[in-house]
Amino acid sequence: MKKTIALIPGDGIGPDVIDEAVKVLNCVANKFGHEFTYKNVIAGGKAIDMFKNPLPKEQLDICLHADSVLLGAVGGPKWDNVDASIRPEKALLGLRGGMKVFANLRPAVMFPQLKNACPLKDEIVGDGIDILIVRELTGGIYFGERGNSSDGKTAWDTEKYTWDEIERIVRLGFEFAKKRRKILTVVDKANILNSSRLWRKVTESIKGEYPDVELNYLYIDNASMQLVRNPRQFDVIATSNMFGDILSDEASQITGSIGMLASASLGSGKGPGLYEPIHGSAPDIAGKNIANPLATILSVAMMLRYDFKMEEEALAVEKAVNDVLDEGWRTSDIAGDIEAVKAQGKLVGTKEMGSLVVEKI
Ligand code: IPM
Ligand code: MG
Repeated sequence: MKKTIALIPGDGIGPDVIDEAVKVLNCVANKFGHEFTYKNVIAGGKAIDMFKNPLPKEQLDICLHADSVLLGAVGGPKWDNVDASIRPEKALLGLRGGMKVFANLRPAVMFPQLKNACPLKDEIVGDGIDILIVRELTGGIYFGERGNSSDGKTAWDTEKYTWDEIERIVRLGFEFAKKRRKILTVVDKANILNSSRLWRKVTESIKGEYPDVELNYLYIDNASMQLVRNPRQFDVIATSNMFGDILSDEASQITGSIGMLASASLGSGKGPGLYEPIHGSAPDIAGKNIANPLATILSVAMMLRYDFKMEEEALAVEKAVNDVLDEGWRTSDIAGDIEAVKAQGKLVGTKEMGSLVVEKI
């Protein structure tokens, strides 16, 4: 198959990890007889420097015309003080809104090989953590009406959801749960928020179509507590934009694998999806061949699976990553006892890690 992939290396370690992801994509193309071509996109801090705009329209257009989009990371301290209207984060929100990718899939998985890095006690973690967070991504308070009073002493943002915006997320949650351990938890604040009560109403109206899925509701405050108290009760979580933002950071941290976690942002399926590691731009280690490229490589696997329907290829990438971990290869963020890993000659940099995965594929 022929596919065009828009690459947004972005800032900080973004370019480091994207280089390795491209190595993996090229290897998949070779091995399985595909042809991938790449289009470079400038967004984030780099675009602010060059165009005074974190996401110029022409750059977004390149993404919209591609078959899929892969992003490294955007932002960094250099742009902390730019005007709020052109902050690097605007590039992310602009991409999500512009590409209409309303559903953000964030798997929080504990890799058994990295169990030592998990901050929770053994008896809590048991045989592992495997949670899929389905976060609403183009609505709610991050996209709602906001404003300031003329005296500058009052400011507001609005949480607003339509039935359809909710339904497509909750349905996706049910669909994923059906294929997994069959538990869906809808997280909200329905004891206070009107919009949350609509989430429940929508969920109640469609739950009958998924009789084999156990449905639970949790308030966001309770859910964030339950995540550290007993993470294994969760299978799929469906929630709003802001709650999903917060919960997914918490979930990723408790797996101990933050440098390993991928994400996919999907729309109706007619346009391209947006794939990115969940970690940030880590400017302090940029360009030093230190960053862990595995989260981006695993995002490539999600791209192959969801945008290109290449399940066999996706599995090959995931297996290769697992094999590399099984053999003990580690970048420093997942090394645990760095000296011990070094003594075994298994401490590797960004490029070596990418090449190891390529060899396994
Ligand atoms: C994320 C990030 C972004 C978000 C920021 C950088 C705009 O935190 O992808 O979770 O809040 O969505
Ligand atoms: Mg976030």
